[in-house]
Amino acid sequence: MRTILLAAAAALALAPAVSAQTVFPNRATAFADKPAIAVGVAWYPEQWPEDRWAVDLDMMKASGFNTVRIGEFAWARMEPEEGKFDFAWMDRAIAAAVKRGFMVVIGTPSAAPPAWLTQNYPDTLRVDENGQRASHGGRRHFSFASRRYRELSRRIAVEMATRYGKHPSVVGWQIDNEVGPPSWEAESVAAWHAFLKQRYGTIDALNRRWTTQYWSQFYNDWSQIPLRQTGQQNPGLLLDFRHFTTAVWTDYIQNQARAIRPLIDRRAWITTNTMFWNAGFDHFVMHRDLDLASWDNYIPDGRPDWVANGANHALVRGYKQRNFWLIETQPGRVDWVPVNRALDPGQVRELAWQSVSHGSDGVLYWQWRPARNGQETYHGAVLGQDGEPNPIHAEITQIAKELTAAAPLLADTGPAAKVAMLWSYDSRWAIDLQRHHRDFDPVKAFTDVYRPLRVQSQGVHVVSPDAALAAYPLVVAPNLNVVTQAQADRLAAYVRGGGHLVLGPRSGMKDDANALWPQRQPGPLADLLGATVEQYYALDAPVGIKGELGEGKVAIWAEEIHSDAAEVRVIATYTDPGGWLDGKPAVVTRKVGRGSITYFGAWLDPATMNTLAARLLGEAKIAPLIPEAHADLEISERAGGGKRVMIVINHGTGARPLTPPSGARFVSGDWAGGQMKAHGVALFQLK
Ligand code: GLA
Repeated sequence: MRTILLAAAAALALAPAVSAQTVFPNRATAFADKPAIAVGVAWYPEQWPEDRWAVDLDMMKASGFNTVRIGEFAWARMEPEEGKFDFAWMDRAIAAAVKRGFMVVIGTPSAAPPAWLTQNYPDTLRVDENGQRASHGGRRHFSFASRRYRELSRRIAVEMATRYGKHPSVVGWQIDNEVGPPSWEAESVAAWHAFLKQRYGTIDALNRRWTTQYWSQFYNDWSQIPLRQTGQQNPGLLLDFRHFTTAVWTDYIQNQARAIRPLIDRRAWITTNTMFWNAGFDHFVMHRDLDLASWDNYIPDGRPDWVANGANHALVRGYKQRNFWLIETQPGRVDWVPVNRALDPGQVRELAWQSVSHGSDGVLYWQWRPARNGQETYHGAVLGQDGEPNPIHAEITQIAKELTAAAPLLADTGPAAKVAMLWSYDSRWAIDLQRHHRDFDPVKAFTDVYRPLRVQSQGVHVVSPDAALAAYPLVVAPNLNVVTQAQADRLAAYVRGGGHLVLGPRSGMKDDANALWPQRQPGPLADLLGATVEQYYALDAPVGIKGELGEGKVAIWAEEIHSDAAEVRVIATYTDPGGWLDGKPAVVTRKVGRGSITYFGAWLDPATMNTLAARLLGEAKIAPLIPEAHADLEISERAGGGKRVMIVINHGTGARPLTPPSGARFVSGDWAGGQMKAHGVALFQLK
């Protein structure tokens, strides 16, 4: 475990790692003879009689699909008894798919260990934070730190890769499926202690960084340190717990990735599929040694908010700063929330195109047909239990045909943006661990800033605070609560190089051990700003704001900013009769050469945030493709390979006006007479 963690700890080093692997193009795969956009389904041949396979595959083909994703939960079928492998059925399933021209994505099955495994090796079962050991019958019930589980899962992955790795139609490998819950058994605890030792070197250093003289938390020895995710604990320990889960999960995935890499085609990618804003590990770290980001986009309540969902896609694009796959999405509805409302007609298509407009090169539906039993019989599927198409089938067929037709144009293009927003897992965790105001949800706070920037600029990338920023005239970090000196130095260099940096409330407060910086906020960026946060306040009622952004309100959180520097300009002040904040600066900015740094110290109401966004975009000279576009229209550009493609999606329920930029050539879709049809999608080629 110690060697495992050395590799994982190295992966956590702050400098962005230079990957030694193939650089993958902005296409579904690096296979030159394969389609540039993948479209298909999760197919589970192991759940069905073999004489049905040909029917299913023929129907998939007729639906316009070019890809099947298989294998990810079929461990019990591939290795029915320990060490006895049966791949004959999978050979035939893959052959039947390939005969029809499908690309194949193979998932390693470690999310669902077979019963013999958990029976023979109960030590591999996950133990929760209260000491409860999991039982067989669900999934993800293994311990992420179990050496034995690592060996057994590596062995099945190697068996699969040995067999299918060089197959010319196997274009990608998905390791495991939606990893997440950590484990608390003795092996995890030992790994935790090894991790901390690796991170801090000496127990003295840990005691210093965690300030353990507080409440006699002082540790004489690593073995005394509890493994905790929640509860009354030192915030340094709780943040390091997240660093630990990041290291272990990254290494868990790499355990299989490293093993299969030499066995698979150089053009085949390796990924793991992730979930939304999942906070279980730092996704930027996880993706350093993976080829491709892929994720599972579901709209649980069936009511899409296009801007918020777009932020998810932008985040996933940011993991590798290149195109990704939407490796799972819903054919209509899910089955795992209290009310599983289906999307309206046309919205499944909107979501497919939205993912593509944000850089997805693969759209796969989960799933083809519901198993006759098992936990997900109620989930949306392309076919019904009788093997005949569900009503959503026609819409998905249309999507498949459209994406296939557009693939040559979209090949080698990726989403264009002049604005970068910084998403920091450390900051999210640090705020969540000590919200100070119950409603300070870091994802909501981020999305509230993303919204006007995205709507007005029509292109925002989400990147890590360690990313290179020079290509972006405007960089916005809504809540960069945790910032290291190295990150602060890079941000300062960005500003001095002419960039426009914007920090939101709670920025620059903590270091990466979750300790307060000794300076007031924004800590190591305070000198650059020429101002500090004099005091912060949790608000139980909105407070007024006025100034160059007009009159508005702030809620949840407000910071009094103080500056003695003449070059710091106050853009807005609070109106808070009788309160601490009255007349105090709320938003300040300072020019630094050709660049600037701006700090807004409160959670602004949507109208004020909108005004601030307009001002920031103006200063950075960022203009949208289509000014004043209707709020229901999502406008995006994919650029690259000498091409510029504009994708317009009408998320509204009625026709919306659209005047394309001059010189734009209408390629295809639902635009006519200057109007976008309700739920319409249209493609234009730009000069
Ligand atoms: C997740 C899983 C899938 C399936 C879907 C259902 O994304 O990866 O196996 O359970 O949820 O929504």
